[in-house]
Amino acid sequence: MSSAIQIKELAREKKAIILAHNYQIGEIQDVADITGDSLELSQKASATDAAMIIFCGVHFMAEAASILSPDKTVIMPDPTAGCPMADMVTPEDVMALRKEHPDAKVVTYINSTAAVKACSDVICTSSNAIKIVERTEGDTIIFLPDRNLGSYVQRFTPKHIILGSGFCPTHDHFTRDDLLAVKDKHPDAVVMVHPECRPEVIDIADHVLSTGQMVSFAQNTDKQKIIVGTEIGIIHKLKRIAPHIEYIPASQSFICPDMKKINLQTLLSSLQNEETRVTVDAEVRRNAKKALEKMLELSY
Ligand code: 13P
Ligand code: SF4
Repeated sequence: MSSAIQIKELAREKKAIILAHNYQIGEIQDVADITGDSLELSQKASATDAAMIIFCGVHFMAEAASILSPDKTVIMPDPTAGCPMADMVTPEDVMALRKEHPDAKVVTYINSTAAVKACSDVICTSSNAIKIVERTEGDTIIFLPDRNLGSYVQRFTPKHIILGSGFCPTHDHFTRDDLLAVKDKHPDAVVMVHPECRPEVIDIADHVLSTGQMVSFAQNTDKQKIIVGTEIGIIHKLKRIAPHIEYIPASQSFICPDMKKINLQTLLSSLQNEETRVTVDAEVRRNAKKALEKMLELSY
């Protein structure tokens, strides 16, 4: 029996749901019950009635699922899959910024640790960041940790945004000249990039979208050729939902090493052994849950 069939059978037996981020390898996306961006996956994690959530993504995503569904068993097939950006801000940094700007609200990107979420007012993802900042009361917002997403949001709001200094190593290495070179080769292609890209890249893109929004864009566009400025795992999903379009990776080095750690073997053994469980300290969880639920409430 193939690993994929074994995984499906075991998941059914254990009443487990398999969630996978759009950057996971193709085999994992194909065996998952749901694939999506960070917002779609956290909405699913909070709404599911499955007893067990197997999260194929990086640690902050599984942690968010555990915060939102504390009564469920949340399992990560490879707990070492982290997000370097999430570790670029600490709770001490948040408290220091709050002290410096006592009237500001803290809007934190979901790519952050549970401890940082716990000292934030509200969480956002790349698909709702503009909306969340606009709907958060007050004129001054401390936006953590992603400086690129924060400065992208600043383009759409008169509020004063105090930017964190974090960034995604996978997206931030890509430059305006890199994108100009691909555009030069494919002048007939439309360009979509993730808001974790540098502002100089965003300036010359046609669309700035979360990974879930990229999927909707491909489903609805009449364009035949798209340059994809984000982690190349998304191209598997794009080809599945809109196979008639030609997808050109903006760079072959758009690879997040942590998103590539999970494979069918590790997924199967995590289901068999129910390992590794992701849990969050009760006190941290209570406060982080408030900030995550505030996001879900403001995301309508
Ligand atoms: P999305 O929420 O757009 O899927 O982004 C998650 C992420 O980690 C991007 O690097
Ligand atoms: Fe983190 Fe970047 Fe990987 Fe997304 S692509 S999980 S932001 S390191």
